[in-house]
Amino acid sequence: MAKALEGVKILDFTHVQSGPTCTQLLAWFGADVIKVERPGEGDITRGQLRDIPDADSLYFTMLNHNKRSITLDTKNPAGKAILEELVRTCDVMVENFAPGVLDRMGFSWERIQEINPRIIVASVKGFGPGPYEDCKVYENVAQCAGGAASTTGFDDGPPLVTGAQIGDSGTGLHLALGIVTALYQRTHTGRGQKVLAAMQDAVLNLCRVKLRDQQRLAHGPLKEYPQYPNGEFGDTVPRAGNASGGGQPGWILKCKGWETDPNAYIYFITQAPVWAKICDVIGKPEWVTDPDYATPVARLPRLKEIFATVEEWTMTKTKFEAMEILNQHDIPCGPILSMKELAEDQSLRETGTVVEVDHPKRGKYLSVGNPIKLSDSPTEVTRSPLLGEHTDEILSEVLGFDPQRIAELRESGALGATRRLAAE
Ligand SMILES: CC(C)(COP(=O)(O)OP(=O)(O)OC[C@H]1O[C@@H](n2cnc3c(N)ncnc32)[C@H](O)[C@@H]1OP(=O)(O)O)[C@@H](O)C(=O)NCCC(=O)NCCS
Repeated sequence: MAKALEGVKILDFTHVQSGPTCTQLLAWFGADVIKVERPGEGDITRGQLRDIPDADSLYFTMLNHNKRSITLDTKNPAGKAILEELVRTCDVMVENFAPGVLDRMGFSWERIQEINPRIIVASVKGFGPGPYEDCKVYENVAQCAGGAASTTGFDDGPPLVTGAQIGDSGTGLHLALGIVTALYQRTHTGRGQKVLAAMQDAVLNLCRVKLRDQQRLAHGPLKEYPQYPNGEFGDTVPRAGNASGGGQPGWILKCKGWETDPNAYIYFITQAPVWAKICDVIGKPEWVTDPDYATPVARLPRLKEIFATVEEWTMTKTKFEAMEILNQHDIPCGPILSMKELAEDQSLRETGTVVEVDHPKRGKYLSVGNPIKLSDSPTEVTRSPLLGEHTDEILSEVLGFDPQRIAELRESGALGATRRLAAE
């Protein structure tokens, strides 16, 4: 079956996490993603957090499926000339180098446009224009600078980062949307354009509800926050623990076995339309009519006590038992699932959200597949490339070089050593 982005050629000049997430998605949608890597070492993540000696790390393999790899020393004049050829041929160039790197390499936006006015140049940077635009940025820096850390954690503790990679993978997702949008616009204009996704901006976009709350503060306390009614509200959005952040109060509650199992918890939402059912399930039928509990507004100052009472009930059930009972009554809730439970979840395997991939150096491993399902463009996850695995293939198929020219290029040092893993 044809894929949505079939025929689109991506010059993937990305590394680490944010850029590779983006180009992996585009590859899953059918684009031909040509990953340009530095000879010898390649993407630094090939060798980071290694679990198996001499094999590309899971860090790398799980972010670079369905791509081809070419090694190119872009500081070598012949290597630079090949990069120029790739710019001429490709539809999109994606990069997430530190600010200024592409310019130093001789590929300013102006120069790239001269080579190929149809190309879309998509970049992840830590910050947009402003005081920090020249800074290098990693995941947690973005979580801190984008507002996530100051609003995550408990009120009496320090700011917290989250395990969800909202700075890196979150920005990669934003960039992918920018790229397909620019490709669509190009169908009318014939022109390429620059696409920028700054990590601070992407994190702030995902923290939109907290900027909402910042403005609500001017009109009184945030009544769904655990600080209400006893705590103090300052002039900035406080950390809200496990409060829901939406209009329906929620909290994480202990379940049977919590003393020994760190994930024996459930997220419980006291959704207003099912309040009567909640009261029945937890054995508090009198709360349905009691004016102190009957309405959402009346419940707000009593949430702590309400959740403590619900917890007395959830502690008598495992998280899965509680989930089953609550679902029968349409009461929104969710078990706290560990990575082990997710890895073993059969339904996620069946939808392709968790996939098993085979790799020549490391054998079988699990990965997260494409979380976005298109009915007419199914995703088949294939393994990540070895460093430089497709160098000759790309030079001949994509750029039309003959074997003699490829041999000369190899002599020149522009390609480095091929068919080897980083740090071999
Ligand atoms: C992630 C980051 C901090 C890493 O920084 P870094 O390891 O110093 O890497 P850089 O991006 O600065 O690139 C390093 C050098 O490699 C060189 N390089 C990269 N690919 C090359 C190739 N194929 N051939 C020759 N040189 C190459 C670059 O030219 C650059 O050299 P220069 O500094 O002499 O100009 C930085 O890239 C960054 O801030 N990126 C933007 C934000 C981002 O995406 N962060 C999240 C990462 S998950």
